[in-house]
Amino acid sequence: MDLIRTPDQNKERKRLNKENIFKDFEIDKSLLSLGKGKKYFLYTYGCQENESDSEKIRGMLSLLSFKETTIIEEADLILMNTCAIRKNAEDKVFGELGRLKQLKREKPEIITALCGCMSQEESVVDKIMKKYQNVDLVFGTHNIASLPNLLNTVMTSHDRVIDVLSYEGDITEKIPVERQNKIKAWIPIMYGCDEFCTYCIVPYTRGKERSRLPENILNEVQSLIKDGYKEVTLLGQNVNAYGKDFTDRDYDFADLLEDLSHMNIERVRFTTSNPKDLSDRQIEVLSKGGNLMPYLHLPVQSGSSKVLKKMNRGYTREDYLDRVEKIRKAIPDISLTTDIIVGFPFETEEDFQETLSLVQECGFEGAFTFIFSKREGTPASKFVDESITDEIAHERLYRLNNVVNEGYKKGNERFLGKNVKVLIEGYSKKENDILMGYTEHNKLVNVKGDKKYIGQIVNCLITKAKTWSLDGEISKEQYS
Ligand code: 5AD
Ligand code: SF4
Repeated sequence: MDLIRTPDQNKERKRLNKENIFKDFEIDKSLLSLGKGKKYFLYTYGCQENESDSEKIRGMLSLLSFKETTIIEEADLILMNTCAIRKNAEDKVFGELGRLKQLKREKPEIITALCGCMSQEESVVDKIMKKYQNVDLVFGTHNIASLPNLLNTVMTSHDRVIDVLSYEGDITEKIPVERQNKIKAWIPIMYGCDEFCTYCIVPYTRGKERSRLPENILNEVQSLIKDGYKEVTLLGQNVNAYGKDFTDRDYDFADLLEDLSHMNIERVRFTTSNPKDLSDRQIEVLSKGGNLMPYLHLPVQSGSSKVLKKMNRGYTREDYLDRVEKIRKAIPDISLTTDIIVGFPFETEEDFQETLSLVQECGFEGAFTFIFSKREGTPASKFVDESITDEIAHERLYRLNNVVNEGYKKGNERFLGKNVKVLIEGYSKKENDILMGYTEHNKLVNVKGDKKYIGQIVNCLITKAKTWSLDGEISKEQYS
């Protein structure tokens, strides 16, 4: 009999005052050969959180003896780890699912699974149940650790399994992680989001804000150092709120940064920060530098206080500018980037002009820019403003991108003729003998050099600044 538990966005909206439940991943030994002789193909859409979840999916599938393939026709199991942040992300997945119908017709024994943020949406699961019989398994973001058991049910019973939990998730530690990058690692430090910005689906799809215990995070970093990792990026929807949910200790994001700054990892980055929760103490810790990188992604979303209020961002234009001033005073050469949404309901041309002027005032060196996308079940999906047509939204995006691109270029030009430290990651995709890596300020550098430098932090002289990248050469003088 099919197992069906579907999501309920009304329940997902609720925040019960219950304490975090910490568990350790467990697996029934009888499942360890479930995937013997079988291959899987994994699609990952969306943000770093999803990339990080995919590393756990890979880890669990390896434990079950599955092997990964990059050739979809070879796969016995196809998984789609999906993103729900904007409609176009969802359209891509449905397009792909449509194409996979044909593959399933040719090879009916293939198992197709859908997980990630889309699986937490009522409308998506409803559509899959009605129109996509080719999907055998749907599981949500809260029960990713149940993948071995769910797969076992599908493979042994051949039933359809839809198992999506709507309540806030627990924190499951010790899920095996298979990282593809051997130099830089993602580390989730918290899950979920309690902000409820009116446009955003994340608080529904990822549940209550809950923090991992610092000792687990620090141990993970320690073992990455042992494995030769050079850089960690701490992940969370709002890392500045880290620790707010602890009831047994007084420990926040500034404390975590401070502890990490004393560890032997070369580089520490984090994403994403909500300006509202960026405390003076966090700025102070960050300003000590060392392994804490001089780079901050600080999504503003809009330069108009009126729009920010409608977005429920919890700060005004002035508050944001004040934060930026404090940051620049503490860390003058920091590289700042942001996220911006245009065409939000009731955004007038004047509001949009305020966004343009804020971008210039803040000196952003990059921005992810988006047209507002209605997400079912969020408050903003009910804001009706017919004055913003598709054409107006696209035209605003175009004008914004022109200003943002100037910032990218200026941000790169300031390093021309300078020596910078580059963590070399590998060969550039475009040219074979050119190495690529990132500077402390998170600038992409291409440099000619030997493969012995891969995984090393190398001193490079910047010889050319382009809009999206820098060219350099390996300096004669190297730091040890
Ligand atoms: N429409 C457009 N952009 C959105 N974002 C989040 N939700 C939406 C939406 N409904 C953007 C925000 C956020 C980034 C990850 O995606 O700018 O910071
Ligand atoms: Fe969405 Fe706002 Fe939470 Fe970011 S802080 S994930 S934009 S609700």
